[in-house]
Amino acid sequence: MLLPRRVPLLSFILLVVGANADSFENTAIVRTVDLGGSVVQVATTFAVKALEANARVYTIALGDAEMQKTSWLEARVKGQATPLAVTDHPGSTDNGVHLVDIILPKPLALNATLNIILDAIQTHATFPWPERASQQEPQSLKYGSDLFVLSPYKTLVQRTKIKSPTPNIHGFSTPEKMEDFTFEEPVTKSGATITYGPYNNIVPSANAAFVKKYQRPVQVHFEYDYPVGEVSKLLRTAEISHWGANLNIQDEIWLRNAGPELKGHFSRLEHQTQAFYNRAASHVIPGLTLHLPAGIRNTYYYDLVGNVSTSRLRTAPSVPKDSPNKQYSVLELKPRYPIMGGWNYSFTLGWDAPLADSASWDKSTGKYIVEIPVLTPFPATVVNDAELKIILPEGATDVDFATPFVAHSTSFSTHTTYLDTTGRPAITLRFTDLTEKHALPLYVSYKVPLSAHLKKPIAVAVAFFSVFVFGLAARRIDLRIHQK
Ligand SMILES: *[C@@H]1O[C@H](CO)[C@@H](O)[C@H](O)[C@H]1NC(C)=O
Ligand SMILES: *[C@@H]1O[C@H](CO)[C@@H](O)[C@H](O)[C@H]1NC(C)=O
Ligand SMILES: *[C@@H]1O[C@H](CO)[C@@H](O)[C@H](O)[C@H]1NC(C)=O
Repeated sequence: MLLPRRVPLLSFILLVVGANADSFENTAIVRTVDLGGSVVQVATTFAVKALEANARVYTIALGDAEMQKTSWLEARVKGQATPLAVTDHPGSTDNGVHLVDIILPKPLALNATLNIILDAIQTHATFPWPERASQQEPQSLKYGSDLFVLSPYKTLVQRTKIKSPTPNIHGFSTPEKMEDFTFEEPVTKSGATITYGPYNNIVPSANAAFVKKYQRPVQVHFEYDYPVGEVSKLLRTAEISHWGANLNIQDEIWLRNAGPELKGHFSRLEHQTQAFYNRAASHVIPGLTLHLPAGIRNTYYYDLVGNVSTSRLRTAPSVPKDSPNKQYSVLELKPRYPIMGGWNYSFTLGWDAPLADSASWDKSTGKYIVEIPVLTPFPATVVNDAELKIILPEGATDVDFATPFVAHSTSFSTHTTYLDTTGRPAITLRFTDLTEKHALPLYVSYKVPLSAHLKKPIAVAVAFFSVFVFGLAARRIDLRIHQK
């Protein structure tokens, strides 16, 4: 499920029920933050108790800053895999608090309890500190969050655990004046985990008054031994060709190392020595391992200089559409140079795939349906700006598409290449802050009338014929340069 602000409303349910502070109480809220680089995972468990019969809609609250950072949200009942429907709460914003409704699988009886798990992915939630580091220095980041998990309901106890990948935590905020919630230490450190709370008896907090009085930012400064990758821009072009029974996918990728900027000169000797002793500086991006679709061919990878041949590709054989066993081709992509902190590297990656692996034809509507992945998952890397352009066969009509999450913008255009007569319809979609979770397929459907199918052969025939006619004519005209 995508960000609530991008999710269409399930209005039929919303008309019936509104958020009511007396519907539930939180017996406990535990939020666990797994610190990372450009992507941070946050799992919050709400142990809830229904205070009225037939309670069906549980509302969660996100503060402004949290809302900004959250690029993906999914709610489910603990122990179950199926995600619950998540929608914007109607008329939701109360100065800095965004409400999101979670529709429970079935209404709860009075005093019934349930554990709801909310998984969120935050992007751009950390920043390098210090901002610059030399090749030999370790890399450290700061992560910021709000102290309290807000809720429209009363909460008996809540805590937030922030887990760092290493116990090297340089510092963390200590909230003051917490007597309203605890008489113990407001924050404790144990190994690689910082725990805020437990805080007791928190009144309904999803309102401007609570936020103003009690909410405050907290920060954790930690060492991070992995590269902080960021794709500042991704342009994907997917071209469907019935003529060649081919789906061509081409990605133009602007990769950036968003860790601390390199201080001083880059020393290749130092880098190679570190690599030799297997202790390469953590803030360098040496390469990427990407999962590409099975059955691809003609894979190409080039940058500004030309073809890059130092990469390895293991192609998985083509799998039939809808086959349960998912396979991937694995590309170990090596940039031309190690990407140091603050450096950019842009390149183009593309491949062809049999159209049959992702296309089907719906007999009842007479339409083709083609499945196109929104992006290739980049491990632990955020894609700031993504543009996906889908080029349909020439003459396609009745074009329709369904995205797994709502696009920022959508536009239609016509794409013309050689041997095209009328041009090909194209759809361009834009997205921001995508993560591995967003590597989902979108579906495009269209009709290709028989006349359109024939256009290409006719165009080819006309092209050949004109060459032939030209040839005939040319033979009759003496084109030789006359020599005196
Ligand atoms: C619900 O719990 C309250 C307080 O614990 C109790 O007074 C009430 O009888 C319970 N109601 C039902 C239907 O179990
Ligand atoms: C790059 O590789 C492709 C396929 O291997 C080849 O067709 C093309 O000529 C190469 N381009 C350059 C500039 O070497
Ligand atoms: C890298 O790209 C970003 C924009 O994505 C730009 O702001 C930055 O200046 C570039 N860095 C270098 C070293 O070129």
